[in-house]
Amino acid sequence: MSKNLDTLLKEERKFEADPEMIAQSNIKQWMDSHNIKNYEELIEKSNEDLEWFWNEMAQELEWFEPYNQVLDWKPPHAQWFVDGKFNIVHNALDRHIKTSRKNKVAYIWESEAGEVKKLTYFELYREVNRLANALKKMGVKKGDRVGIYLPMILELPIAMLACAKIGAIHSVVFSGFWAKAFQERANDAKAKVAITADGFHRRGKDIKLKDTLDMVMDDIPSIEKVIVVQNTGSNVGMKEGRDVFWDEILKKESAKCETEQLDSEDPLFILYTSGTTGKPKGVLHTHAGYAVGTYTTLKFVFDIKDSDIWWCAADVGWITGHSYIVYAPLLMGATSLMFEGTPDYPDPGRFWKMIGDYGVSIFYTAPTTVRLFMKYGEKWPQKYDLNTLRLLGSVGEPINPEAWIWYHKNAGNRKCPIMDTWWQTETGMHIITPLPITELKPGSTFKPFPTIQADIVDDDGNSLTESGGHLVLKTPWPAMFRTLYGDPDRYVEAYWSKFPGIYLSGDVARKDKNGYFWIQGREDDVLNVAGHRISTAEVESALVSHPAVAESAVVGKPDILKGEEIAAFVILKQEFEASPQLKNQLREHVRESIGPIASPAFIGFVDDLPKTRSGKIMRRVIKAKVKEEDVGDISTLANPESVDGLDRAL
Ligand code: WTA
Repeated sequence: MSKNLDTLLKEERKFEADPEMIAQSNIKQWMDSHNIKNYEELIEKSNEDLEWFWNEMAQELEWFEPYNQVLDWKPPHAQWFVDGKFNIVHNALDRHIKTSRKNKVAYIWESEAGEVKKLTYFELYREVNRLANALKKMGVKKGDRVGIYLPMILELPIAMLACAKIGAIHSVVFSGFWAKAFQERANDAKAKVAITADGFHRRGKDIKLKDTLDMVMDDIPSIEKVIVVQNTGSNVGMKEGRDVFWDEILKKESAKCETEQLDSEDPLFILYTSGTTGKPKGVLHTHAGYAVGTYTTLKFVFDIKDSDIWWCAADVGWITGHSYIVYAPLLMGATSLMFEGTPDYPDPGRFWKMIGDYGVSIFYTAPTTVRLFMKYGEKWPQKYDLNTLRLLGSVGEPINPEAWIWYHKNAGNRKCPIMDTWWQTETGMHIITPLPITELKPGSTFKPFPTIQADIVDDDGNSLTESGGHLVLKTPWPAMFRTLYGDPDRYVEAYWSKFPGIYLSGDVARKDKNGYFWIQGREDDVLNVAGHRISTAEVESALVSHPAVAESAVVGKPDILKGEEIAAFVILKQEFEASPQLKNQLREHVRESIGPIASPAFIGFVDDLPKTRSGKIMRRVIKAKVKEEDVGDISTLANPESVDGLDRAL
């Protein structure tokens, strides 16, 4: 980065934590039991001695054999809970079976068509054991890789847990990806078994999955067996000797299976993250550290109690789903809602209806969904009873302050704090995040979680305040990834070499004078206008703060004089119409809210923006269009039609 980022957006609104919320919170109770008076003391004490903090938390889980050392840190390589014997599944399932949680509902699942299934901890435990036994019979052993290509159905967590139970490493590939993505990932990991389904439902259509997988199976020589869940009931071709139906093999298996006693550092899963360029990176997580980190953050950030209904509305195919639909909620013994469908099918009230139907108390979603709700308007949440909600969450992209306010008002009835959690596939757990006891500023992800030393630095590693720079982490944390599978050099090169021993996140952010962090986006997306380095997030937030705008994406367009000028694509709320006057108003609005330098030279109205399958705006594609270049590989794009919309707007 040649120069620090300019800071344009100044958000001054503040939301204090509610005293009742504070008093009942898990974090406050934990602080009381450790004689810690307030947030400042919590941070001071835990930052001074991170091993003390994580040891305390690790003691809340069960160990087959105790560890001898909390942390062995030889940058950039960490080992946590050294020499301990552990299994995340023992903690997520087996230990609950001995308690009153045995018959508690672990998952309430709803299909797109509205069918409901519930699975108690005991039922889940038995299904996992059956599949674990079946995998063992197929020759899957500790350390073997299993490729999972399943939609949002209960068999997905079951498959992950069965692998982990026997010490096999799962690699889940998002079911919305084309089979080539599965092929590439399964080959990279040399998966021995694949687990898939006949298909799934999307907007009323049956999407075939097994047929899709079959198109690439000849090119994945390591796979010996394919297990097929019959989810839609559609006809599938089964290859003799290779393909077996899930139900048929499970019914033959016993519901008892010993949990493998693993080493703390044994690998749990690989999850590929695409990044903007190059081959996907196989982020590797391990059993014990990941368990302790995700358990602790869910407990303290989302304050889960036995009485809560928790809904993390991500897909299990992403890290958010791995950590906060599968592992952490089960470690906590929570009841989770899991949903097969999308937020606006059959109508834009679907999510709100489900919150009302199940009495969801804590709801965690992505800014892209909040902005979609904004587009459809307040009338949808108003139709449903959302009174059970007590806490909200956001993850995946910067949430524009105006979207934050909308979410706070319409989902949270102005009483639910929003936990805007910053983290990554690589971090495994929340890193920069509010707690339910802290004062919030809309659009800020608050401060680092206890023990974590995050900072904003310039190119030389100097700490910056009130100016954007590289977001780095200076201390290790238990759920950190340990390497990139099969590519240890890239692990060091991509994340730990710019500032040796310091983790480079690849994001740019700003820290204000009160120590609050404001995420400004990926480094690759920073704009350079007439010598000013401007973050896309700030211009987008300025646009979204105009009453007509639901969502926007901003990119740089090369300009001989200025270096770059700003091109903005805007999605309007449904009740507004596109017009040249509105374009001028938007330019004026940005000029007034964050300054003339940020006023877009070009504004185009679109119905949709190109997004990744996890809902992040793909600015790379927009940039290519604006520059009249080839858009390149768009296989990870969720909505290829949106590209034509850009053409029309240009
Ligand atoms: C972005 C998702 C702003 C960020 C858990 C990060 C965020 C990338 C936030 C990781 C947030 C995630 N505010 N930006 N609260 N959370 N991001 O690996 O750019 O899918 O680097 O993990 O999402 O995406 P990933």
